[in-house]
Amino acid sequence: MTDPILYFNDVTVSFMARRGKTKKPINAADHVTLSVRQGEIFGLVGESGSGKSTLARLAVGLNSFASGSVVFDGTILENGKRPLALRQRIQMVFQDPYSSLDPRMSVRQQFMEILKVHKSIPADQRVAHCEKIFTQVELPVSLLDARPRQMSGGQRQRVAIARALLLSPDLLVADEPVSALDVSVQAGIVQLFAHLRSQLGVSIFFIAHDLAVVRHLCDRVAVMYMGKIVEEASTDELFANPRHPYTRALLDSIPRLVPDAHEHVAAPEGEPPSLLRLPSGCRFRSRCPYATERCANEEPTLLALASSEATAPHLASCHYANNLEVYGGRRSAP
Ligand SMILES: Nc1ncnc2c1ncn2[C@@H]1O[C@H](COP(=O)(O)OP(=O)(O)OP(=O)(O)O)[C@@H](O)[C@H]1O
Ligand SMILES: [Mg+2]
Repeated sequence: MTDPILYFNDVTVSFMARRGKTKKPINAADHVTLSVRQGEIFGLVGESGSGKSTLARLAVGLNSFASGSVVFDGTILENGKRPLALRQRIQMVFQDPYSSLDPRMSVRQQFMEILKVHKSIPADQRVAHCEKIFTQVELPVSLLDARPRQMSGGQRQRVAIARALLLSPDLLVADEPVSALDVSVQAGIVQLFAHLRSQLGVSIFFIAHDLAVVRHLCDRVAVMYMGKIVEEASTDELFANPRHPYTRALLDSIPRLVPDAHEHVAAPEGEPPSLLRLPSGCRFRSRCPYATERCANEEPTLLALASSEATAPHLASCHYANNLEVYGGRRSAP
């Protein structure tokens, strides 16, 4: 087990949300603790609005935290503008490649400008460097002279990944990098992230709203619901032994992965509650088929399962996570 490269320690990110004519604070990330380890691909999964991008943006310094701490490679980070040398080490890949590419300039022009600002590559080596990165993302070097809109969606996302790699970062934060792509090109981009990790040793914080995408890519996965991490485990363990009813419901919505899950659990039903009006106790209880009175009265904490191994902890935030019988269909705990 390697040391963390990125560590969120009990972080809360708050925004003001409009409610009628007034504004009220919401916690888009609510006391989140997680770490991405050196050289690891760590997956974060959850429905729309669960707070995934909030954490991604926090990692690259685009969001501020209200409490807790953020540690990168052993250094405690403050809110506010980060020094250039630090920004260089944590790079983001967005869902929409245009978020990081200028449609009016050729890729070569854009890359050269970035290299000029950062100065880490000597001027006479910059062309060769761009060509090397293009080869790493499996694009023909001839495309360096194209503009982003002259490319296919998959090529454009590879260019956005190349842009993120240009300054040899230690951590890539990929926020739903395949969600906007045709299904036919998604697998190729997911494969590319796997290659980049093994070739370059880069650590990857990989966000998806679908568990199927992370299954063959990530070493560990966390599941997020309404600002909270509700379950975290190694990917194999999470798929083989999901303990939070929300994770089980997400898995059940991809039944080909868990053939027998249909017997017990329905896909997550209903809409998530608003962050402005969270249920008391467990915030998943309004959609949970197993919710009891205890769930209404007492908020569960994210704890290691009794069966959890010390080297690869399996954490879940459910009062009944250690009690598999609950998932046998009974609505109340014994
Ligand atoms: N800058 C902001 N100002 C106010 N509210 C915000 C801001 N950014 C995010 N939020 C709110 O925080 C919550 C979490 O949003 P976030 O974008 O992190 O979710 P997400 O999991 O990335 O969703 P999606 O899958 O749709 O991308 C949402 O309720 C959102 O409206
Ligand atoms: Mg998002």
